[in-house]
Amino acid sequence: MQNISRKDVDFEVATNADIINHILKNHHAFLKKELPEIEELVFTIFKVHFMDSGDILEKVHRLFNHLKTEFEAHIIKEERVLFHIVKEYENNPSRELLESVLEGISRVEENNIEIENILKELRKVTDGYTVPPTGCPTYEKTYAKLNEIERNTISHFKLERDLMFRRLADI
Ligand SMILES: [Fe+2]
Repeated sequence: MQNISRKDVDFEVATNADIINHILKNHHAFLKKELPEIEELVFTIFKVHFMDSGDILEKVHRLFNHLKTEFEAHIIKEERVLFHIVKEYENNPSRELLESVLEGISRVEENNIEIENILKELRKVTDGYTVPPTGCPTYEKTYAKLNEIERNTISHFKLERDLMFRRLADI
């Protein structure tokens, strides 16, 4: 993901509007597609493997549903409010807009911290996404997709925090 990212935007010189477009295309669109698919997969393996891996999968099911809720709030907060005011601020900076931007960042950070904790917990309860010997191809696919969500989120949050948020907060 990181290699693809580097090719389509030069982050050193990118404006916040460029970074936002990149995030929408490579991270938010990815989540909007993947989250409902993984939700179905998690439900399926919980049902099919209840007899052999029910203890782990009950936790995965609960954690994933919580993760999906937090990601949906993250996307709504950024796409409905934060990204608009960041672009507005970039075009026409004012003290008032900056305060709204910083407030928006702190609201989305509440979800981000929760998301990172859930991802850590998911990795822990699945023993680093190790498929048990009783696992089937659907089980493997589900864990591979969860792993991919984690990888994508690391670059997603790195861009938002290290580039966009920090740059704005330092002004
Ligand atoms: Fe985001």
